[in-house]
Amino acid sequence: MRPSVTVIGLGYVGLPTAALLAGRGLRVHGVDSSPQLRATLAEGRVHIAEPGVEALVRQAVADGSLTIHDTPQRADVFVIAVPTPLGPGQAPMLDHVLDAARALAPALDEGALVLLESTSPIGTTAQIGKLLRQLRPDIADISVAYGPERVLPGRILEELVRNNRVAGGLDPRATERAVAFYRLFVEGEVHGTEAASAEMVKLAENAFRDVNIAFANELSLIAGHHGLDVWRVIALANLHPRVDILRPGPGVGGHCIAVDPWFLAHGAPGAARLIPAARAVDAAKRDAVLEQASAVCMEGERVICLGLAFKGDVDDLRESPALAIATELARRHPGRVAAVEPHLAAAPPGFPAPLIPLEEALMGPGALLVLTDHSVFAGIPPERIAGRRIIDTRGIIRLENRPHA
Ligand SMILES: NC(=O)c1ccc[n+]([C@@H]2O[C@H](COP(=O)([O-])OP(=O)(O)OC[C@H]3O[C@@H](n4cnc5c(N)ncnc54)[C@H](O)[C@@H]3O)[C@@H](O)[C@H]2O)c1
Repeated sequence: MRPSVTVIGLGYVGLPTAALLAGRGLRVHGVDSSPQLRATLAEGRVHIAEPGVEALVRQAVADGSLTIHDTPQRADVFVIAVPTPLGPGQAPMLDHVLDAARALAPALDEGALVLLESTSPIGTTAQIGKLLRQLRPDIADISVAYGPERVLPGRILEELVRNNRVAGGLDPRATERAVAFYRLFVEGEVHGTEAASAEMVKLAENAFRDVNIAFANELSLIAGHHGLDVWRVIALANLHPRVDILRPGPGVGGHCIAVDPWFLAHGAPGAARLIPAARAVDAAKRDAVLEQASAVCMEGERVICLGLAFKGDVDDLRESPALAIATELARRHPGRVAAVEPHLAAAPPGFPAPLIPLEEALMGPGALLVLTDHSVFAGIPPERIAGRRIIDTRGIIRLENRPHA
């Protein structure tokens, strides 16, 4: 029989997961602490711009396979997908995860499977297991496992199904049950391991990305120092059969890569040296871009920031270096800065500069500061920006005299 599922936390991870499971014929209870979000979802509308999700949610809400609640409902499987932000001193804040575990405890029945999907420091799944055993000593059979999510914003529905997954239980039976659950809808391979290793796998993946992007950013700073085109240098270095340098940018953003490395570093401070160094390089790169653009403003020129999202072709502003740089630039130089963000209908709350259409930016004066690799920016015809001053932190702008690397 297909299990019923309660998904706690209906954001970028939880909502597509809930909608996908409901679409596969499972009975899904979606739970979120935000009343506003629950009201939106109950009407079959969604709050995230993620291809395909709104249609799935609308259908699932209409046919009753997905219902929206403020407290966890009884189910065979519980999926926890609440945020795990950084607190003071870059320490992971587990409040949401522990609150979710406390909230689901009364809804547990004998034989339940609890899956933590929130990116979490090593040992969190064990903490949840301990908490649930304390809160429900009357239940003998609870399986607790960690199932890290690897989805890419913009392609979440597709990747939920296609990506390979790791699932790690607190005991072999929990692992087996978690693997069986994911095999219900995952077409990629599902690998079983134990919980702490699964937790570290997820953190290692994101720290790998962060460290390697920091390397590319450090190269861009060094190339800038020597007046060299880092894109050309990297393209040529990558011709080496065993070299694959990533792309520099204005810094790393998003909820995961800019945050998760701290979870590893914080858990083993004496052992982690490269990971904190990569975070420091990231901060240095953001500062360097800000100073470069600031210098243009000080010359009296207007600067138009192209992009506020943390990466191309999405509207996600979380931990966005583009938003941070544009905000600070506009604060420093009131009236001199504007921004173009085709994926937003209005400027983010408190953003201290006007949001203008790309067409207006291309028609009017001002230097262009490319902060996000939206395809629409990469598609700007070179003749439309000929003679403009351009700071291209993403290496996407095609110029007449510089072939796109
Ligand atoms: N966004 C991604 O692409 C991605 C990818 C992989 C892993 N993750 C991880 O998944 C987790 C969730 O991320 P997200 O992007 O979906 O977050 P999100 O902020 O988009 O959504 C989280 C939701 O949880 C709700 N919430 C918070 N506390 C709650 C509680 N106690 N009970 C019920 N609801 C609660 C919030 O209202 C929010 O709607 C994080 O740990 C994140 O690191 C995210």
